[in-house]
Amino acid sequence: MAEDLINNKDIYFPSYLGTNDKLITLLNRASQILCEWFSKADKNGPLPLDKSFKCIMPAEDGNSEEDLFSEIESLLKNSFNPVHPGSLAHLDPPPLIFSILGELIAAGLNNNLLAYELSPSVTLLEESLCKWFAQKIGFNDFSGGIAASGGTLSNLNALIAARNNAGLGTNPNSVLLVSEDAHSSFVKCIRIMGLDTNNLVRIKTDNQGRMDISDLRKSLDKCSIENKKIFAIVATLGTTIRGAVDPIKEISDICKQRNIWLHIDGSIGGIFAITSIQIEGLNNINQANSITINPQKIIGITKTSSLLLVSNMSTLKNTFNTGLPYISSNENIINRGEIGIQGSRPAEVIKLWLGLRFLGLNGIENILKSSIKRKDFFIKNINNNKFDIYSGPLHIVSFLPKKLEPKDSDAWTQTKVNELINNNFMLSRPKFKGKYFLRVVMGNYNTKESHIEELLKLLNS
Ligand SMILES: Cc1ncc(COP(=O)(O)O)c(C=O)c1O
Repeated sequence: MAEDLINNKDIYFPSYLGTNDKLITLLNRASQILCEWFSKADKNGPLPLDKSFKCIMPAEDGNSEEDLFSEIESLLKNSFNPVHPGSLAHLDPPPLIFSILGELIAAGLNNNLLAYELSPSVTLLEESLCKWFAQKIGFNDFSGGIAASGGTLSNLNALIAARNNAGLGTNPNSVLLVSEDAHSSFVKCIRIMGLDTNNLVRIKTDNQGRMDISDLRKSLDKCSIENKKIFAIVATLGTTIRGAVDPIKEISDICKQRNIWLHIDGSIGGIFAITSIQIEGLNNINQANSITINPQKIIGITKTSSLLLVSNMSTLKNTFNTGLPYISSNENIINRGEIGIQGSRPAEVIKLWLGLRFLGLNGIENILKSSIKRKDFFIKNINNNKFDIYSGPLHIVSFLPKKLEPKDSDAWTQTKVNELINNNFMLSRPKFKGKYFLRVVMGNYNTKESHIEELLKLLNS
């Protein structure tokens, strides 16, 4: 049982002596279980129908290795499997192999991005990688960035910096402008920032789901008449429901004329900006003050991996630096905990770094192009006499039967999602502007045209 564990204290932690044979055996066994789970995905489907996993809590004595490995297997058997080719519901693609390795190394290192002294190499790595991304998108030498756990937090880092930069830190009249198709987490950001939902001004979108520039101008004039102080405009580079791209050039011109911070929520589409892939509307992004890029959402960097890039690093320093009195500082190196919301943070940047180095720019481009190709194939072959299709230049498609009443969309999508999952296809049913849609996200590298044909047969029949 667990006795040998308790008696042999070395097993609690890696040993600083010897070869850590026990740890190697355990890691090998865990890797084996994980790899078997990947390769059984085809048999088990994207969502397990077996709900047998029991959330057993720690007991008085520690459990045996055998107990724990059997719990791990049960947990895996009851988990969503992003590797299955029918996993097409969300922005959660299969994990990149080198990102999985990065995750292991980050866990073993257990370094802390709070401070340079707790993560010397990783601090430099994160700083350099942010700078590399910033330069790739056309920012100048003052630029840089900070990693965070997900798009919501990167956007929040940007908005707090924008408000601080505008000198509106405590002003209850400060407002944020986003399109009506922007991600729902902006409501959360506004609440966290101590503002009312009315401080989030929604700009209409056109029939392609892009921010309507004439409505933006009208809203700006209205804000000025009502003495509202705008601390930022958000342009979305890839909306969640249909992958639309707001007209960044026009929005950035307006921001420049009126001296307003432009934040680009590139959680979905931002990564395209470092490739040569032509995306309609994706231009002038180096005119922004900040941009969120979330490589976990398309190219398979394991969660979480999001970056906020800023055109001027001093905006982050001025906003978040409080001093860390218990940490030694080095004049030339910024403690990463002093330029963003998060304090202690894992060395997650390793999985982004290893993933990107493994892929190279060609590999990144290949993955992104393949997503667009799958989307194009889907749109070309879906019965467009039967469905209204909503999609932009990225890899996301929402659709609904023509003439379906909004009140019937709930039942129709629910029935369809159930029917599809029984056939091993997982799609999502987002609620958007008062009705439900079916949504397919073509970010899964394992999905081949034959799978899409199979999916279309189920939809078109
Ligand atoms: C456009 C956009 N922005 C922000 C987010 C929030 O990202 P996260 O879930 O990583 O916090 C999402 C999530 O899908 C998104 O689609």
